[in-house]
Amino acid sequence: MELTPVSAQFVAEVTNIDLSTPLAIGEQQALRKHLDEFAVLIFPDQPLTEAEQLGIAKLFGDLEVSVGASIYSTNKPRRLGHTELSDISNLDETGRILDNGDIRRLINISNQLWHTDSSFKRTPASVSLLSAQEIPPVGGATEFADMRAAWDALDESMQQRLLPLVAIHDYFHSRGLTGFDVEGIPDHWRTLQPPVPQVLVRHHRNTDRHSLYLASHISKIEDMSDTDSKALVDELIAFATQPQFLYRHRWRTHDLVMWDNRCTMHRGAGFDEKYRRSMRRATVQDIGPSVEQIDHSREVTA
Ligand code: OGA
Ligand code: MN
Repeated sequence: MELTPVSAQFVAEVTNIDLSTPLAIGEQQALRKHLDEFAVLIFPDQPLTEAEQLGIAKLFGDLEVSVGASIYSTNKPRRLGHTELSDISNLDETGRILDNGDIRRLINISNQLWHTDSSFKRTPASVSLLSAQEIPPVGGATEFADMRAAWDALDESMQQRLLPLVAIHDYFHSRGLTGFDVEGIPDHWRTLQPPVPQVLVRHHRNTDRHSLYLASHISKIEDMSDTDSKALVDELIAFATQPQFLYRHRWRTHDLVMWDNRCTMHRGAGFDEKYRRSMRRATVQDIGPSVEQIDHSREVTA
């Protein structure tokens, strides 16, 4: 396995590895260590089957079931064979480009807002692994933001102010920002995906680094007015997505990109939807709710 940093401590490309065959224990450990250090890893030229992709994902923990599969498509045909894979595409189950108003398109379009995966679940995602099957000839990049570097760049008084805060993340909040008819959502969807609390600042036990934990899923900050919450979240997202914290990935067919959701945000850059774009994502569950992982013994020192 060969590692080439693309940006210091945030993004690296990994070559000389075949993810379709079982990895030796030493390689598995190296993979986890590199992901802890860098947060985004790019593996070019990995034409993985669904099962092979899930196998690599399981090296990082238990897998999530895709929200699309669990809420919207129960008992409806899906394009992908495994419910643990999220369908990140503009295609229907027969492989045709979705109509503009198709609910599956409206669900996925929220991926174009800055977010971290599944922070709207009480136990959110740790690692995501996105595999590119078909990419448009232009556009369709994915941008990543380094939330550890953003945290490090905040002044200390701001860090101290943010440390105790808890944000409410709501799946339907981000859908509402992208033209989804939130009023029309059936009650049982709401019940399946209720708003949840997450810490605003995370601490990564393997690296001992802090990071901002932000997403467009945040509907408000606990114990703050709606106006003050929105102002603070908007300010922090703007701060954390300045060019010096970003990496933009231009996809090649059969790229596999994995990222640590606990310390990065990402968004799709959009593309002309007359083109096909087909990706699938395996998503690993974190070990528990972020609000139960606060390390009270740790104070940030300048
Ligand atoms: C995702 C995601 C963005 C994109 O797969 O979690 O947000 O560019 N994707 O497809
Ligand atoms: Mn995502």
